[in-house]
Amino acid sequence: MSTFPSDDPIWNAIEAEATRQETHLELIASENHTSHEVMAAMGSCLTDKYAEGYPGRRYYGGCEHVDEVETICRDRAKSLFGATHANVQAHSGSQANVAAYMALLEPGDRVLGMSLDHGGHLSHGHPKNFSGLFYDFHAYGVERDTERLDLDRIRAQALELKPKLLLAGASAYPRAIDFEGLASIAREAGSLFMVDMAHIAGLVAGGQHASPVPHADIVTMTTHKTLRGPRGGLILTTKDWIKQVNSAIFPGEQGGPFMHAIAAKGIALREASEPAFSDYAERVVANAARLAATLTERGLRIVSGGTDNHLMLVDVSGVSLTGADAEEALGAVGVTCNKNLIPYDPQPPMKASGVRIGTAAVTTRGLGTAEMETLGGLIADVLHAPSDEAVRARVARSVAELTGAFPIRGESAAVARG
Ligand SMILES: Cc1ncc(COP(=O)(O)O)c(C=O)c1O
Repeated sequence: MSTFPSDDPIWNAIEAEATRQETHLELIASENHTSHEVMAAMGSCLTDKYAEGYPGRRYYGGCEHVDEVETICRDRAKSLFGATHANVQAHSGSQANVAAYMALLEPGDRVLGMSLDHGGHLSHGHPKNFSGLFYDFHAYGVERDTERLDLDRIRAQALELKPKLLLAGASAYPRAIDFEGLASIAREAGSLFMVDMAHIAGLVAGGQHASPVPHADIVTMTTHKTLRGPRGGLILTTKDWIKQVNSAIFPGEQGGPFMHAIAAKGIALREASEPAFSDYAERVVANAARLAATLTERGLRIVSGGTDNHLMLVDVSGVSLTGADAEEALGAVGVTCNKNLIPYDPQPPMKASGVRIGTAAVTTRGLGTAEMETLGGLIADVLHAPSDEAVRARVARSVAELTGAFPIRGESAAVARG
């Protein structure tokens, strides 16, 4: 075995990434900063263990301890979200969606989900994604004037199309989603109802968004966004679907589960059940609202006029920029975010007219509403004068002050180095 730490250049890159994270404000809405405990579980000896199957029914020996890990993780998922059944093995959010579709659908079945151009996800029917290749996806979108979902319009579409599955959930929708209303549309149209709550799982856990669990046949999520766990997927379902879900995950689409990731998911689920996490979720939403209000005051248009959750879309076409330009200008001053299509965007996806901004990660490192006002002012300064070097230099200094005052992990930034 090699020595640790070795002089492998990969360690230099990991060290550099730790420094990048410490010295930049992470506003990518799908990212977060995990706890030491979550990181330690991800780097634990469980990474060595094969455990195909489920607790008590494995295809390998030596699974008594990982059985305990998976059982605890599953119980915590059920208890945190009030679900009767859970599968914690999905390697990612996309894998969770593969399993959900395999459980509920036959290839070629019709699905009605949110348009990718209006904030839906690749795994909700992109023509080059497995979802679009194997199922007959149709899309609902947001209204042109309100930039919000309109349930009457979705109801009319569902009654006309009669999809086998109505799918809710998004990657870039800043407003609360009425899961109860959508479930009633699904019932009326004779459809099954699935929710992909990847982005808002932590807000649901922390009581900041209504839960889809009582209304859906299957709920999928990622564990690494607002839920603040390791990179991974998780599925909640009912007694009617758990057998199909379990067999869709294994042997359907995956081999051995990532037991280290399941341990880390279990730890994150415990963390999310603690009172401090509800407080965190509340601060994430309050921070997003304050940031959106500050940007609006500084003359930037926020899609749909604001946000109910952890993210917002800033329409930068009003300041004659593309989303790509804005992403670059903000990146240069230490503020990381991503270009994003806005509804009815005339630009192609690689340029886009918007940037998506989320507050999950900066809230984890301790920034509050006062800092959101400062940050909003800095973002607006850059977007109003994107190539002014003096502005860039001044804003970069202010960002460095903020990151210095709110360290993520302090002196052991690269947790992996021990
Ligand atoms: C709504 C939604 N579903 C699924 C996923 C996919 O998750 P993963 O990247 O873990 O496959 C994402 C990721 O951004 C998402 O936003």
